[in-house]
Amino acid sequence: MNIVLLGAPGAGKGTQGDRIGAHYGIPKLATGDVLREAARQGTPLGLEAKRYMDRGELVPDAVILGIMKEALARPVAANGVVLDGVVRTVPQAEGLERVLGELGRRLDVVLLFDVEEEELVRRLSTRTVCERCQAPYTGRESGSACDKCGSRLVRRADDEPEAIRKRMREYREKTGPVIDWYRARAEAGGDAAPRIVMVDAVGEIDAVTQRVLDALSR
Ligand code: AP5
Repeated sequence: MNIVLLGAPGAGKGTQGDRIGAHYGIPKLATGDVLREAARQGTPLGLEAKRYMDRGELVPDAVILGIMKEALARPVAANGVVLDGVVRTVPQAEGLERVLGELGRRLDVVLLFDVEEEELVRRLSTRTVCERCQAPYTGRESGSACDKCGSRLVRRADDEPEAIRKRMREYREKTGPVIDWYRARAEAGGDAAPRIVMVDAVGEIDAVTQRVLDALSR
């Protein structure tokens, strides 16, 4: 199964993406994680991407399409993949359809996470993440240890108020049209059209996971 997760910053794409991947035994590809790791390692791609990310702006489509193409061709992704934040603009949605088509595959589901902006800001303002494995935490101090790998928890540069506002604006202006693009695809029907599933992503994390898995199994 190939699944795209769409949702505003802080909607829980990363949290639920790990669980969906574990449930179906397929890997998660999160472009944000790939770019942050490249920035941490100081590669040219990472340093270029960091300038956009720290300001809360989207990284250019060409960079994302390159990451997407390379990741989808890996043998580990042959049976399906959870795409977390990989599609944020219409050119990226078109690019994903093209790349999957070249591999003889198609997108099965677009999963939309529904959360009010006030709750998103609350989550992001109190989030820390592991600097190595990028696991997110709420209400845990910077400098404490990650439960999963023992590395240090840090605040993300783009979780400061100014960058959060910018990310929300980018989401409304550039990712909003992607949802409309997929809806139009679904209405037109045809082989390449994915199923669109909207999930209420507010409440206990386990309860949201259950809602997601129920919706995917229908
Ligand atoms: P990315 O890392 O993907 O950031 P994002 O989309 O802004 O999403 P977040 O990681 O902030 O949130 P999330 O939805 O994963 O929520 P999480 O599970 O952490 O991208 C960062 C940047 O990279 C972009 O701004 C851009 O610059 C660049 N980029 C990446 N992909 C790109 C692309 N395709 N095109 C262009 N640029 C790209 O949860 C948030 C918090 O809430 C956590 O603390 C979590 O513990 C908590 N939480 C989760 N669920 C719940 C719940 N149900 N109740 C309470 N708390 C919860």
